Amino acid sequence: MCGIVGYVGHSAGRVNTGHNALDVVLEGLRRLEYRGYDSAGIAVVADGTISSRKKSGKLSNLIAELDASPLPESLTGIGHTRWATHGGPTDQNAHPHLADEGKLAVIHNGIIENFAELKLELTRKGVTFLSETDTEVAAALLADIYRNQLGGDSANGGLTKAMQLACQRLEGAFTLLAVHADQPDVVVAARRNSPLVVGLGDGENFLGSDVSGFIDYTRRAVELGQDQIVTITADTVEITDFYGAPAEGKEYHVNWDPASAEKGGFPSFMEKEIHDQPDAVLQTLLGRSDINGRLTLDELRVDPELLKNVSKIIVLACGTSAYAGQVAKYAIERWCRIPTEVELSHEFRYRDPIVDENTLIVSISQSGETMDTLMAVRYAKEQGAKTVSICNTNGSTIPRESDAVLYTHAGPEIAVASTKAFLAQITAAYLLGLYLAQLRGNKFQGEIKDILADLNKIPAKIQQVLDNEEQIKELGRSMADAKSVLFLGRHVGFPVAMEGALKLKELAYIHAEGFAAGELKHGPIALIEEGQPVFVVVPSPRGRDSLHAKVVSNIQEVRARGARTIVIAEEGDEAVKAYAEHVFYIPETPTLLAPLLSTVPLQIFALALASAKGYDVDQPRNLAKSVTVE
Ligand code: AGP
Repeated sequence: MCGIVGYVGHSAGRVNTGHNALDVVLEGLRRLEYRGYDSAGIAVVADGTISSRKKSGKLSNLIAELDASPLPESLTGIGHTRWATHGGPTDQNAHPHLADEGKLAVIHNGIIENFAELKLELTRKGVTFLSETDTEVAAALLADIYRNQLGGDSANGGLTKAMQLACQRLEGAFTLLAVHADQPDVVVAARRNSPLVVGLGDGENFLGSDVSGFIDYTRRAVELGQDQIVTITADTVEITDFYGAPAEGKEYHVNWDPASAEKGGFPSFMEKEIHDQPDAVLQTLLGRSDINGRLTLDELRVDPELLKNVSKIIVLACGTSAYAGQVAKYAIERWCRIPTEVELSHEFRYRDPIVDENTLIVSISQSGETMDTLMAVRYAKEQGAKTVSICNTNGSTIPRESDAVLYTHAGPEIAVASTKAFLAQITAAYLLGLYLAQLRGNKFQGEIKDILADLNKIPAKIQQVLDNEEQIKELGRSMADAKSVLFLGRHVGFPVAMEGALKLKELAYIHAEGFAAGELKHGPIALIEEGQPVFVVVPSPRGRDSLHAKVVSNIQEVRARGARTIVIAEEGDEAVKAYAEHVFYIPETPTLLAPLLSTVPLQIFALALASAKGYDVDQPRNLAKSVTVE
C-alpha cells in the first residue's frame, strides 16, 4: 500500500494559482506517508525535461535531498511514498522509475503479477533494468509502446494511448501515474484493484491514492472505477477504459477534515485497518499462484529439496502473531503432515529446544523488529535450522537475518493493536503450507487448486462481515461496563478465542481470557456466574469430528450457569440460537479458513467497547507497536 500524488496546475491564460507542483506533491505525500514510509520520490516536468529525486527512508530524507539538490519550478508533477513489496527499501528501488531515456517517469501502487515475463521480453529488446521492482518493468513497457509502437508522437494519442495499450498487457493490482517530457501539462494514470481518486480544482487538477493526497487544495473528488485510465490537465479530466472507450466518473464532495482523511474517514487507524482487511488478504494472495492453481513462491528462494526434507516446523512469534501461528498449525499439519510446534519466541531458547538441519523455523512478525523473535531466530540458526520469515515490513531485521522471507502485503499497520496483519499472516502461512504440500506431494494439485479457490473468496467474505458490523458495535457499546469477558473456541477457533481476548485486554484494559472450550470443565467453568459474558467461536456444523455438537454443549454448560452467551457461528447454523443471547453469523467457509472471518467480529467488539470507554484505540496505554527489547 503506497501513497501516490499527481498534479497539473496553472493552465495557460488563467490567473496564476500560485501552486508549484513540488509544493503540492510534497504536501500530499506528507499526508499519505502513513500508507508507506520505506522510501519517497518526486518527478516534475519542466523546461522540456523530467527532473526527479528519490530517497529511501522517511519523507524527511527526500526533503533533505531536495534541499540539497532542488527541483525546478513546474506545472506538473507526481510523487510516491513506498511500502515495499517487490525489492527492498533502497534508493534504487524507490519510485519514480524513469524510462525512454529519462523522458518518462512512472510511480506505482500494487503488484504486477506478470512482471517477470514482461521483464524478460523487454530485456530481449535491449532494455537494461536498474532496480528489482515490478514498477520499473511497467515504466519500460510504457516507454516501449510510446516510443516504438506509437512513434513517440502525441498525435497518436501519446501517453494516454500508450497507457491504455500497456494496461492491456499488465496483470495483477496496480495504480500507475506517468508523466512525459513531450507532454508537460499532462499526467496520465490507470487503476486496477488499487485505489485512485481525482481531485478537481480551479485551473488545476489532482490525483491521489486517497483524498488525503489533495484535501488541502480541493474537496471535489471523482472516484475512478476498475480498469480505467484518466488523463488530467489543469483544465480537463478525461476518463476511458483500457481500450479507449469514454467512461464517466462520479463526482462527490469530501467532508472529512484532513486528519480523518489520513484514516480514510474512519475515527481511528484501528478501525481503518479493520476495514483494510479484505484488501490485506487479497494483496497477500496476489501473484503467488498461477491460473492452474499451482503455488508460485519463487520469492522464497529456499532450495525445494531442502523443504522436501523438513521433518519438523517450529513457528516462533509473540502476541497476536503467535496466535496466527497457532491457527496456521492446524492447516499446515493437515495439508503437509509435518509436525508443527508454535513457540512463544521469549520461551523458545530457554527450554533447550530440539532443533537440527531438518527443522524449518517459521518466524511471524508484523514489524520484523520484535527482539524476542529476532533472538529466537538467531538461536535456531545457530542450531543449524533453516529460517523463513513471514513479515509485513520489507527490509526489517528479522527477514534480513532469515534464510527466506514471505512478505505479507497488508500495508503499514499504524494502530498498535494488530488486526489486518493478523489476517495477512494467517494467509501467508496458509500459502507456505500449501507450497510445502505441493513440493512434497501431500496434496493433489486439484486439492490445492480448490483450497486456493476458497482462499480467494475470503476477501469478499470478510467484507460481508464488515457490512454487518453495526450489530456487534452496538453490543460492544452496551458492555462498556463489563469487568471480565471470557472467550471459548475449539480447534482453529481456540487461537481465535485467545486473539479475541487479547484485543479486549489491549484496547479496553479489562480482564479477558481465551480458553479451549473443551478445557472449561477442567477448572475454568468455576469462573462462570450470573451475567458473565462469554463469547463462543462455533465451528461449522458441516465440519468433521462432531466438533460443532461439542461446542454447542459447551454453550449449554455456561448458559446453564447464568452466562451471557455471545456466539460467532456460520450462516445457517440454527442449533446455536437456543443457547445464545446474541448470534453473529459469518459466511460459510471451510473450517481451516474460518479464522479469517470469525476473528473480525471480535476485533470490532473490542474496538467498540474501548471506544465507548473513551480510550485511545490506536495507542493503548503501556503498549508499543514494536517491542524491540527482550
Ligand atoms: C498485537 O495486537 C500486539 N500489539 C502484540 O501482541 C504483537 O502482535 C506482538 O508484539 C508481536 O509483534 P510483531 O508481530 O511485530 O512481532
